[in-house]
Amino acid sequence: MRRKLAAGNWKMNGTGAALSELDLLAAKHPSPSLDILICPPAPLLHRAASAVENTSVSVGGQDCHADASGAHTGDISAEMLKDAGASAVILGHSERRVDHGERNEDVRAKARTVMDAGLQAIICVGESLEQRDVANTLDIIGGQLSGSIPDQSTGENLVVAYEPIWAIGTGKVPTLEEIGEVHDFIRARLERRFGEGVGRSVRLLYGGSVKPGNATEIFGVSNVDGALVGGASLKAEDFSGIIQALESI
Ligand code: PGA
Repeated sequence: MRRKLAAGNWKMNGTGAALSELDLLAAKHPSPSLDILICPPAPLLHRAASAVENTSVSVGGQDCHADASGAHTGDISAEMLKDAGASAVILGHSERRVDHGERNEDVRAKARTVMDAGLQAIICVGESLEQRDVANTLDIIGGQLSGSIPDQSTGENLVVAYEPIWAIGTGKVPTLEEIGEVHDFIRARLERRFGEGVGRSVRLLYGGSVKPGNATEIFGVSNVDGALVGGASLKAEDFSGIIQALESI
């Protein structure tokens, strides 16, 4: 069956002092029954990878360029993230889609290089409140899935994160029925496109205001294989509570 995944996205938070949270986190979970991933800001990645070496915690990137190398000032390639110690890269987060105008085809191109580099792509999809209000959430998600996910995807190199934009950093969370509806839909879409074997092996994360207090009920929803956590991943104690909730399912 699918191995659960607790993924933390530190976003643009943390300097060297934050690395102690990784030590704490690894110490709290010496032999977890699931995967633990932290995606720190790029300048911390190499030090973060060293800090968690030989522990249960892995590290990843938050974005990368679609090209392998070249004249792209300020950008970072998938190979560079891998070289710094990353095993996964978050792609198409709504903050990238909104702040940097990333379109589905951009996310797909990035995912290809990430997969070609032997890393796992965590591809984010999610609707805005406006889109949910006019009740076309599944159309939006369906378009993002078909546009953002490359053909070479497998259960090993792809993770999909459902993150309703209105739930990110707001303390608002969809109902369990709403989460279940979208996750079942994503599963069905993946099975239709990639066949049952691959479709069933891809892990689906929920993201958006996941906290230790609401994690257990969210993890009880069908086709939720873990979480992509922003704010509550910054402190080892909070993230540990989420990991414990996921382990107990
Ligand atoms: P949040 O962020 O947990 O702070 O809501 C989630 C995310 O953006 O991945």
